This record gives sequence, structure tokens and C-alpha cells, in this order.
Amino acid sequence: MSATSSATPIYNFDIVKKFAVMAVIWGLIGMSAGVLIAAQLVWPELNFDTPWFTYSRLRPLHTNAVIFAFGGCALFATSYYVVQRTCQTRIFSDKIANFTFWGWQAVIVCAIISLPLGMTSSKEYAELEWPIDILIAIVWIAYAIVFFGTIVKRTTSHIYVANWFYGGFILTVAVLHIGNSMAIPVSFTKSYSIYAGAVDAMMQWWYGHNAVGFFLTAGFLGMMYYFVPKQAERPVYSYRLSVVHFWSLISLYIWAGPHHLHYTALPDWTQSLGMVMSIVLFVPSWGGMINGIMTLSGAWHKLRTDPILRFMIVSLSFYGMSTFEGPMMAIKSVNALSHYTDWTVGHVHSGALGWVAMISIGSLYHLIPRVFGRERMYSIKLINVHFWLATAGVVLYIVAMWITGVMEGMMWRAINADGTLTYSFIEIVAQKKPFNIIRWVGGLCVVTGMILMLYNVIRTIRSDKTADESISSPAAQATA
Ligand code: HEM
Ligand code: HEM
Repeated sequence: MSATSSATPIYNFDIVKKFAVMAVIWGLIGMSAGVLIAAQLVWPELNFDTPWFTYSRLRPLHTNAVIFAFGGCALFATSYYVVQRTCQTRIFSDKIANFTFWGWQAVIVCAIISLPLGMTSSKEYAELEWPIDILIAIVWIAYAIVFFGTIVKRTTSHIYVANWFYGGFILTVAVLHIGNSMAIPVSFTKSYSIYAGAVDAMMQWWYGHNAVGFFLTAGFLGMMYYFVPKQAERPVYSYRLSVVHFWSLISLYIWAGPHHLHYTALPDWTQSLGMVMSIVLFVPSWGGMINGIMTLSGAWHKLRTDPILRFMIVSLSFYGMSTFEGPMMAIKSVNALSHYTDWTVGHVHSGALGWVAMISIGSLYHLIPRVFGRERMYSIKLINVHFWLATAGVVLYIVAMWITGVMEGMMWRAINADGTLTYSFIEIVAQKKPFNIIRWVGGLCVVTGMILMLYNVIRTIRSDKTADESISSPAAQATA
């Protein structure tokens, strides 16, 4: 808050500051865990023969840390910032917002303790056991109260489109989490799903796919619709398209889950429905991507000098790539090749690392100096180095996975004239080694970039270069 002001500022930026800083810290930790498990896949000795350090336990730790700790904190920070700025009002309740901060950090700490100890519900991206699930549900409901409460008390007549995406994400994640986590506890640390067999699988991938659609996509599209126009200093390319984008995306995503269960015990018509909906999903995804990229019309020259904008535009390119690749992989005959291979892992990281992490990083670089009342980030040069490290890292990662993924898929299906398999499983694993090393190097580049980011953020916060008209001051906030 501005030191010179005595009046209460319009906005609560303290909550945004806390979530933004934690997003950077958890990003570094979660991605370092990714680098460690990438190394374990090359050098298994790194499992150290210790149960809590094995790949199988650290892998869910990585996914939970990057998706929910890093991604989650970035979403909380940006949504609290955007909803206040676009509704021109202070957050609905400082106390409840603070509860969401401490509650969410508690969830993350519980995950960091329980997953390496081997406590898991065994549902992917929903591994946490029932007491933590209950805490998540409570925090999430508090989040919804703060977010929608702020929308209700807005002083503007219009609800800016970014809030539609954030709102859709908050509501849907509540329904998904509560629906999929229904379980019967048998002890404090173990429970069993109330669903059985194919129904359990269907529920899990209805959740899993929509965790991608709403947690890893809709919320981050909210970020895109606010921060890309702000950073480019241009209005959204087409506001009408953004509204069509919202309604078409949310009404299609929810049907696509069965593409994770091709060739399983799920009824065939369900699999085909999931496939068709996934193919159609390409249209709104690209509509949104084009809307974001075209927002730069007339401002393309800024890409030469502004690494923050570069983060955002490159993230949109990865979004376009992964939402072209996803519908393709949803086609049953293509999935027969890609499923169980590293192709899927490459697809995941072109979406998660290329799109989700890069749009978050760009938005955080935009937001952090503003909420801390600084003129700009401490070093633009370091942001530029971070940009190139991140881009090189993602490209190394996903290209290596595409090659090794298609290779292993082809090797698995190769058969001799007498019908026996041409390659043994271990021969295929050995062929993958060089590509796994390239993926690990890519991860190292990404993590080095995150270390630079943390350093840059600390120096920005500590710097005494306050913006002349700090947006933390009531006067400046009133005109923001
Ligand atoms: C330094 C960056 C990263 C590295 C080195 C890395 C590495 C890895 C590795 C080695 C795996 C296991 C792959 C396998 O089972 O074969 C994995 C899985 C996964 N990672 Fe990352 N990761 C990084 C960043 C991220 C980020 C930022 C996100 C999300 C925002 C993410 C989300 C995931 C997901 C969802 C999976 C599970 C994939 C699946 O089940 O197919 N990762 N990661
Ligand atoms: C139109 C959009 C998309 C479609 C239709 C789509 C489709 C698919 C398909 C078919 C698979 C493979 C399922 C399997 O063989 O098991 C998959 C896996 C995955 N996708 Fe996508 N995808 C899309 C966008 C994205 C984006 C943008 C992200 C990340 C931000 C993402 C994250 C994932 C993850 C995490 C998995 C791995 C799930 C697992 O098995 O653990 N997808 N997707």
C-alpha cells in the first residue's frame, strides 16, 4: 500500500501479492520435482532405494505441485486482481480471501507430506486422501464466495469477459472435485471410491479431462483476456468472439472425457461421443487462440522489445498446438498408437508447460510490479533470458517426447511374420534413453529460468523504485 496515503485503498492487493509470490516459489519447487523425476527415468539409481523417494510417489507430487500449487496460486492471484480491477471495487471479504490463502497453502503442505508417504486415493490428479479433499472443498467454496461476491458488489454495469472464464472455472472445479472425490473412508488416511468398475473410470476421466478443460484452460483463458490486451495496450481483437468462445468452450469440454478411455470396458458409443466432441472442441479452442493473438494487431513491433508480451504470445502458440494435437489424439485409430506412450506426455507438456506455465509467467511479470507499487520489474534483461530458456526448454521437451512417443508406439506394434513381437519391452525402453536425456536438459533450462524469475521478483520487491503514481495509492486506483 502507498506509504503516503491515509485513506483505505480501493483494492486489496495484499492477497494478490501473497498468492503471486507463492506461485513463483511453488513453480520453482514443482518444476524441480519434474526435473528430478525426468532424471530418475534416465538414472534409476536416483530412486535411492527409499520408498518415499521413488518415482511412483514423486510423480504425483510433481503433478500436484505444478497444477494445484503453481497453477492454483497463479489463478488465485490473477483472478483476485482482475475481478477487483474490472469490477472497480474492493474484494468481497478480506477475511475470507485470507482464509483461501492459508487454506490453499495448507492443502499444498498436506500434499507434500502425504504423497511421498504413499498415501493416495490412486485417482490421477485427485490423489489426495479424503481429509485433504474436504479441506479443498471448503477452501474452494470460500473462493467462490469471494469471487462471486465481488462480482455482485461491482460498480460497473458490465462483467468483463475474463471474469466469465474465471467464474466458469471456479464453479466447474467445485462440481468436479466434489463429484469425483466421493469416497468411503476406512481410516484417517485411506478411503475407497463410492463408484465401481467402469463407472469409476468414467467419473475419474470426466473429472480428469475437465481438470484440463477448466483448471488448466478456462482459468488461464481468463488470464489471457485480461493480461494480453493490458500488456499489448490494445483492446481485445473481437469482444463478440470472446463471448462465443466462452459459451462454446464450456458447453463442449464437458463431453470429451471418454477420449481417455478408448478401447476400454466403457460402452463403445460413449467412446465415439467423446471422440466427436473432442474433434469439435478444436473450433472454439482455435477461435480463442486467434482472438488472443490478433489482439496484437497493430502492436506486433512490441514483440521486439517486450519479453513479457513474448511470453504471452508464445504461450498462445503452444495453446494452439496442443489443442490441434489433442483432437487428433482423440481419434480412436490415432489413440491406438499414442496411448501409453510418451507422445501423451509431450502433448501434456506442450499444453501445461508451453501454454499454462508461460501465460502465468507473463501475467505474473505484468502484475507483480503493479501490486507492489514498483515502476517495473527489476530487470527486463533477465525476463528476456528467462523467455529464451523457457522456450528452448519446452521445445526440447516436447520434440523429444514426440519422437520417442511415436517410436515406442511403432515398436510395440511391430510383429514378425510368425506373429511374435519384434521388440521386447526392455529393448524399447533402452531406445528411449537419449530422448529422455534431452527432456531432462529441457527441464533444466525451464528450472534455470524459474530461478532467474524468483531472483528478479525478490529484487523488484526489495527495490526502492516506487512508481510515481503507484497504483497502490487510492488516487491512482480510482482511475485504474
Ligand atoms: C521443468 C519442467 C517440467 C519437467 C522437467 C517435467 C517433467 C515431467 C515428467 C518426467 C513427468 C512424468 C512423465 C512420465 O510419466 O513418463 C511429468 C508428468 C506430468 N507433468 Fe510435468 N514437468 C515439468 C513441468 C510441468 C508443468 C509446469 C506442468 C503443469 C502445469 C506439468 C504437468 C504434468 C502432468 C499433468 C504430468 C502427467 C502426464 C501424464 O500422465 O500423461 N509438468 N512431468
Ligand atoms: C481441444 C483440446 C484438447 C483435446 C481434445 C485433448 C485431447 C487429449 C487426448 C486424446 C489425450 C490422450 C488420452 C489418452 O490417450 O489417455 C490427452 C491427454 C492429456 N491432455 Fe489433452 N487435449 C486437449 C488440450 C489439452 C490442453 C490445453 C492441456 C493442458 C493444458 C491438456 C492436457 C492433457 C493432459 C494432462 C493429458 C494426460 C492425461 C493423463 O493420461 O494423465 N490437453 N488430451
